[in-house]
Amino acid sequence: MKINGTWYRPIWPDEDDPGLVRVIDQRRLPHEFAVLDIRDVDTAIFAIKDMVVRGAPLIGATGAWAMVLALRACPGGDQDAWLGREAARIAAARPTAVNLAWAVDRVAAAVRGAEDPEERISLARQLALEIADNEAECCRMIGVHGLPLVRDIHKKTNKTVNILTHCNAGWLACVDYGTATAPVYAAHDAGVPVHVWVDETRPLNQGARLTAFELAAHGVPHTVVTDNAGGHLMQHGMVDMVIVGTDRTTRTGDVANKVGTYLKALAARDNSVPFYVALPSSTIDWNMEDGVREIPIETRDPDEVRFVQGLFDGALVKVLVPPEKSQALNVAFDVTPARLVTGLVTERGVCGAGEKEILGLFPERA
Ligand code: MRU
Repeated sequence: MKINGTWYRPIWPDEDDPGLVRVIDQRRLPHEFAVLDIRDVDTAIFAIKDMVVRGAPLIGATGAWAMVLALRACPGGDQDAWLGREAARIAAARPTAVNLAWAVDRVAAAVRGAEDPEERISLARQLALEIADNEAECCRMIGVHGLPLVRDIHKKTNKTVNILTHCNAGWLACVDYGTATAPVYAAHDAGVPVHVWVDETRPLNQGARLTAFELAAHGVPHTVVTDNAGGHLMQHGMVDMVIVGTDRTTRTGDVANKVGTYLKALAARDNSVPFYVALPSSTIDWNMEDGVREIPIETRDPDEVRFVQGLFDGALVKVLVPPEKSQALNVAFDVTPARLVTGLVTERGVCGAGEKEILGLFPERA
């Protein structure tokens, strides 16, 4: 994706310094473009926890690079035991997106058995690059498979297709293309007229800050709306489809995503608006069946609810909203049951949100 004419991914290894990984600091967008240098595991964990990097596929890619940095810092002795402890620390940085543990486990498995420390670093590095490239390619394919869904609506209505999305499931969250945004970009690039309703996505406003930033950079018409506006828009025929991303989807099709997604799915069902979830298969938790009972839901610092960040007099500032002494609860995700999901858009195609349908696309997981 280009920012002011320069092509970026949200994470990349420095070409000259093998001990340096660089990430776009998403906490400061859209008003400031800054890059954070990551040279050690602690900084990588900080970047994931503090949401310098965020979004399920990108958290996974960052976890893989954190493992490379862990291996570079290995003091000798029992390398596997040491890496195991570092892997546990990295995987625990954020609990809901399964991509993090998935990527960390993959790197740990890839280096197990190799004795030479340099070989271990090289294997891990190769895999970290591969994971990032693969997530980008999966997202490109999500665009390929999602485009006909948008195009079909346009063919039926012969009008601009109005798509509602929640949070940021764009290229910033995914290495490239995005998950929910991939069909949007594909449709826009193919000349299908689209307009996106962007939920602002309190408390951290990933929609208003990041999705709007991405869509503006790509020239996609969009309008930021409050999180509570979606139901009204759907009741008045102003939404043709909903597309969201996910942080963890069970093998039965229950979908965890940014808090508020469930309410959009309920409103979509009440108004017969198709509700799609776009995801790479790295986001499927093949071991879970009941999303509401089993998916760990992250609770974050209440100050993220109490304070709102924005631009004032050219500087980023945070302001307090509720009374100083009021308590706040910051539940970061919720689970949308499979029965409310019209379809899953994956790198292998579109399927229903059910175990049989998912396994139809991924038979090797049966
Ligand atoms: O807390 P965040 O910003 O990491 O939450 C991100 C989301 O909820 C995204 O929708 C999800 O990770 C899918 S990204 C392709």
